[in-house]
Amino acid sequence: MARLGLVLAMALCLTISVFPDTTTAQLKHNFYGKKVVQQKVKETFVTIPATLRLFFHDCFVNGCDASVMIQSTPNNKAEKDHPDNVSLAGDGFDVVIKAKKALDAIPSCRNKVSCADILALATRDVVVAAEGPSYPVELGRRDGLVSTAASVHGNLPGPNDNFDKLNKLFAKNKLTQEDMIALSAAHTLGFAHCNKVFNRIYNFNRTHIIDPALNKGYAKDLRLAWPKNVDPRIAINIDPITPKKIDNIYFKNLQQGKGLFTSDQVLYTDRRSRPTVDSWAKNSAAFNAAFVKAMTKLGRVGVKTGHNGNIRRDCGAFN
Ligand SMILES: *[C@@H]1O[C@H](CO)[C@@H](O)[C@H](O)[C@H]1NC(C)=O
Ligand SMILES: *[C@@H]1O[C@H](CO)[C@@H](O)[C@H](O)[C@H]1NC(C)=O
Repeated sequence: MARLGLVLAMALCLTISVFPDTTTAQLKHNFYGKKVVQQKVKETFVTIPATLRLFFHDCFVNGCDASVMIQSTPNNKAEKDHPDNVSLAGDGFDVVIKAKKALDAIPSCRNKVSCADILALATRDVVVAAEGPSYPVELGRRDGLVSTAASVHGNLPGPNDNFDKLNKLFAKNKLTQEDMIALSAAHTLGFAHCNKVFNRIYNFNRTHIIDPALNKGYAKDLRLAWPKNVDPRIAINIDPITPKKIDNIYFKNLQQGKGLFTSDQVLYTDRRSRPTVDSWAKNSAAFNAAFVKAMTKLGRVGVKTGHNGNIRRDCGAFN
């Protein structure tokens, strides 16, 4: 088993880029640090949503170039220290650092694989660990040379975003409305803090105290979990039914008014996206295919090649 792992890891180190402009060749499926990911997931389930979130955040801000992993220095406030980072948990960073360490321990692999590629691979592995679909990961990203908190502003979707804003943000990254809906299903995992949802259950607008798009029973459950004076650190599962699985239950929840964030529920309330929600709620294979397609496209966003990037020795610091 150990030997097999090594062979696969070496195969990875010899494989090259599918992205244009890079000198090297091609790649297929890679299993390199998969064991590291599986071990880490066993220790902490949060690794799964944390890694997925980290990849998404990385790609949406300045492209998939591991700029989100850079630590701030006295002279530079880095991407990860922008206030919009609330849902970035340390476990996503940790799994990438551990997978890199495992790769770097193999002499022929040392500093051959970028942190951005390792994050992309780890993301696929956590998707599989959450029983989502597997897919080949395109490789050949280089690590970015810039990471600033200022670059985050306005580039990440927020829990109260409306449909047009969501579409616009995704379109900016060459992702379609379908991609946006498929990637929203990442909310089939993960936790939310009450401040993002409080207005929906206590103070919606002048005519409705509770958002009428919310399922009444679900709104009651939310109020029980989050009484008015709740400790704001108390988090609950975003998906009330299957919080540990990537599956199409997310869409069934939306049909029942159980989308936790406004940005989830709007996918069902808006006429433009409801047919997609209905069809994926019925057909999990169609959702899986759309999710793989969207994840692959997400992994292409703003990829750095050639002199626009390098391979970091330490994912948290520029070389
Ligand atoms: C998020 O940003 C805050 C500052 O806004 C920082 O204190 C915190 O450590 C950051 N979180 C992560 C996971 O880097
Ligand atoms: C409150 O929200 C509901 C549902 O979105 C809407 O129908 C209603 O017009 C809103 N009321 C006000 C005063 O904005």
